[in-house]
Amino acid sequence: MDITELILSDHHEQRRLFAMLDDVDPADTGTLGSLWERLAAMLEVHAEAEELFFYPALLELGQRRTNEGDTGGDEVDETKDAIGDHNDIRDGIIEAGRHEVGSNGWWKGVNAAREANDEHMGEEEHEGLADFRRHAGLDTRHRIAVTFAAYEAKHADGVKAVDKDPDEYVEDHS
Ligand SMILES: [Fe+2]
Ligand SMILES: [Fe+2]
Repeated sequence: MDITELILSDHHEQRRLFAMLDDVDPADTGTLGSLWERLAAMLEVHAEAEELFFYPALLELGQRRTNEGDTGGDEVDETKDAIGDHNDIRDGIIEAGRHEVGSNGWWKGVNAAREANDEHMGEEEHEGLADFRRHAGLDTRHRIAVTFAAYEAKHADGVKAVDKDPDEYVEDHS
């Protein structure tokens, strides 16, 4: 297993579930609600798992590069960006949850989460994940993947969404 592959594969599943919402008859709120419940839980668990296991490892990698005299790393900025983006995604989910499924307010929240997630996944894929592929060993990538997969399996029904301050997060994990 490889954490960079696992995250990419989760992103694909998220894109697929958002695309599925486009296919549902807007009047079929039962189906919209079921798909959204699954997608929202997945988005929250994925972000939480990244914050628990991937970003601490990315920050550690950045620290190691600095200690070795490599000044080219952007791991701290990449992490702060990601934590801020995760908050935006969670805020969209919370907004959707304030409205009846299928209503304008619900779609507004869903679309806000979708836009924030689309932008975030692109950045994460070509920043943090690329960085990790270039600089982290396969053993580390495997170990984090196993822990990450176990966490997602254990919390498949969702986790309590908690926004985090990006600066405090980096401080706490440095
Ligand atoms: Fe992600
Ligand atoms: Fe992320």
